[in-house]
This record gives sequence, C-alpha cells and structure tokens, in this order.
Amino acid sequence: MLSFPDSFRFGTATAATQIEGGCTTSDWYAFAQQPGRIKGGGRPDVACDGWRRWRDDLAIQKSLGLGAYRMSIEWARIEPRPNEIDQAALDEYRRMLGAMRDAGIEPMVTLHHFTLPKWLADRGGLLAEGFHTRLARFARVAAGALGDVCRFWITINEPNVLAAQAYLLGAWPPARQSPTEALRAHHRMLAAHVAAYRALKDVLGDDAQVGVAHHLRLAQPARPESSADRMMAHVFARVFNDSFALATCTGRMYGPLDALVTGPEGFRVAEARGTQDFFGINYYSRDVVRFSPGHAAELFAERSVPPGVEVSDLGWEVYPEGLGMIVRAWAQRSGVPVYITENGIADATDSRRGPFLVRHLAQLARAIADGVDVRGYFHWSLLDNFEWAEGYGPRFGLVEVDYATQDRRIRDSGHLYAKIARERVLP
Ligand code: BGC
Repeated sequence: MLSFPDSFRFGTATAATQIEGGCTTSDWYAFAQQPGRIKGGGRPDVACDGWRRWRDDLAIQKSLGLGAYRMSIEWARIEPRPNEIDQAALDEYRRMLGAMRDAGIEPMVTLHHFTLPKWLADRGGLLAEGFHTRLARFARVAAGALGDVCRFWITINEPNVLAAQAYLLGAWPPARQSPTEALRAHHRMLAAHVAAYRALKDVLGDDAQVGVAHHLRLAQPARPESSADRMMAHVFARVFNDSFALATCTGRMYGPLDALVTGPEGFRVAEARGTQDFFGINYYSRDVVRFSPGHAAELFAERSVPPGVEVSDLGWEVYPEGLGMIVRAWAQRSGVPVYITENGIADATDSRRGPFLVRHLAQLARAIADGVDVRGYFHWSLLDNFEWAEGYGPRFGLVEVDYATQDRRIRDSGHLYAKIARERVLP
C-alpha cells in the first residue's frame, strides 16, 4: 500500500493573473488587449473573479480538506505606479492569508508569477536596469506586510519558461525572439532571485522558508541510437531545464561561460549557491528530442511526443515516471527538502485527471518510502483559469468554472484528491 506521512502537505496552486481579474496595471493586461495575442481572444480582465470571490474559493479548498495553498500576489496591483504602494491591496492579501491560516491551510506565496507592473515592463521588464533591486524592494514590502501570516515564499515562478516564452518564442510579453536576450533575461532573473531571497530572509529571519518554483522536464533522445539526438537532449536539458536550478544548488549556471558574464551591479552566478531553503518543482511532462537544423532558435532541438502515448488536451505527454526521476535527482543535488509546487493536466472531461493524480502521487510515495525528503504536493490547479496565451480553452481545475456565471463545481477528480488527502493512502 502506498501511503504518505502525516506531515506531508496536500495542496493546490494558483497564480494571481490567472484567477483574480480586476487588475489593469500589469503587462499581461495590456498584452491581452492586443488582437491575436491570446487564443480565442481571452483576456484576464475578469478571469475567475477571484479577487472578489476568494472567500468562496477558500471555502471550497477547505471543504476538500486540502491543507496547503500556493498563490501569487500581483505586483502590478500592489505597486501600480513606481514606488507607490497600494495599502488597500496589501490589506486584502493579508485578510486572504489570515483567513487561510484560520481555516488550517498553510499558504505559500509567490512574488513573481510571470507578470510585471506595466510601468516596469515599459522600462525594459526583466532586462530593465535595476530589475533585481526592484524585485528585492517588492519582496521587502510583501514580507513586511504579510510575513507574520505566511512562512513559505517563492521568489520567481519558472524563470526558464518565462525567458523562453517571452524572449525566445515571442509568445508572451514583450514578445521578443532573441536567443541572446533570452539568456540575459534568464541570468537577470537569477540575480533578482538572489536579491529577493536575501531581502526576505533579512526581513523575516530564518523561520521563513524561501525557494523557487523550478519548471523541470525530462529530455530524452527521440532515437537513442542517434548521437545527434542524444547530444540535443543533453544540451536542451542542460540549458533549458537545469541551468537556473543548478545555479541555485551549485553556483554554476552555464559552466565555463559563467565567468564571462557579469550581471547587474557585478552579480556573479556563484552568489546563487545555497539560495533556497526548499526546492520547488513544477512538473508536467517530458520532451522527446531530435536534432533538427530547422530549429536553430531552440538550440537545434525539435521536441515531440512519442506516437500512441496518452496526452493532455494540450497535447502534453502524461509521463508520471519523469516526476519520480526528477524528484530523486534534484533532492540529491539540492540537499534541501523538496515540494512539488505544481503538477496537473488540461483535461476538460475530467476523465484523465484522477488517474493522472494517482500515478504522479504514487511516484512521490515511492520516493518517500526510499527516504527522499519530499514534503508536499500542490496540484495545478484548484480552479480552471486563464492559461496565458492559450486563453480559457485548457481546463486544469479540480474545480470547474463556468465563466459566464462564475459558478464553481467540484469535479470527480477533486473529490478523489480530497479522499487521498484525508486517508493518506493511494487507491
Ligand atoms: C505555470 C502556470 C501554468 C501551468 C500550466 C506552469 O507553467 O506556472 O502558470 O498555468 O504551468 O500550463
């Protein structure tokens, strides 16, 4: 029987822009108004109306008996204009986090989940001079206002995904397609993470637990007999998957190249070593990689899904074994406790989410039985929500949202997850 210790936390995860609505001062708000940017023309203007309905959503989470909740606070809402802090917004987040704790739910707060205040994006966003100082200052403000109601913090969500989508693939703001800018953005975010980590620890002391939500995938060669494919899988894994996460563990990002790049105010990659108290993993899928001269911008790696495998509504392969491998490898590399800060599936019919949950949790239960220090699992997501450039099509929620009426309905997979969390064993 696969089981979980009493201390293991079962939770869900969301992000501000994807659920809250009612924030007009972010780069994503502006981006989504531009025709053709978001599939189906979806905009985050209302999303799940979570800014007004958070009490109802908290009640749903509580009714499911899930004792942890990862959310983000919207920087653009809290600092709508440079150096102007909206105290009312901070107070509302404070009420949210306080209510969560009263309900016996442990919060984990992300400072930066893909979005920026528009004024900062206009000044160059991640590449703006002083971006790292800005994030650190925001971290201080957030810690000062919310530190007594929140112990777990994430500085940045998925820096590798953001660098790639925003600066390489041109799919997210500022919609650039420049490999050098993507590498620079990645490096800048590392400097910003380090600055924010220090700011949080400085204000909150050692009791605060601070990490990064690293997006990690498995990269495997499409034709294992092909040395070009093997090489591509290796390069892709090293540069996209591992470099930021490795930097936080070992102080090395791109190996010998690190010495050539100096960041803002002389930031060196080596400073990132040991800047996380836990290791956050967002895991969704694996990539099967083949060498392709046509994919120069993606380091000559063409990613695909093996024929005949189970996929999500977004075409992502369902590959639970990858979670087991990644958890084991990174628990060892990082030497700190691991949390699965995201894992989930786009599945509108809810026919695959239940088995998906069980199979991924089974990987964790086995790892824990083998002595790997995994402390919690946050399912993405509590609610259906705004899926960035994919709009409102993909349905990731344990709870279905009817966007016309804002009605919520707990899906069968939601009930199944509640049962697992309650009984602490897998069916
Ligand atoms: C992100 C979420 C996103 C989810 C599903 C992660 O990359 O952190 O914001 O909704 O994956 O695509």
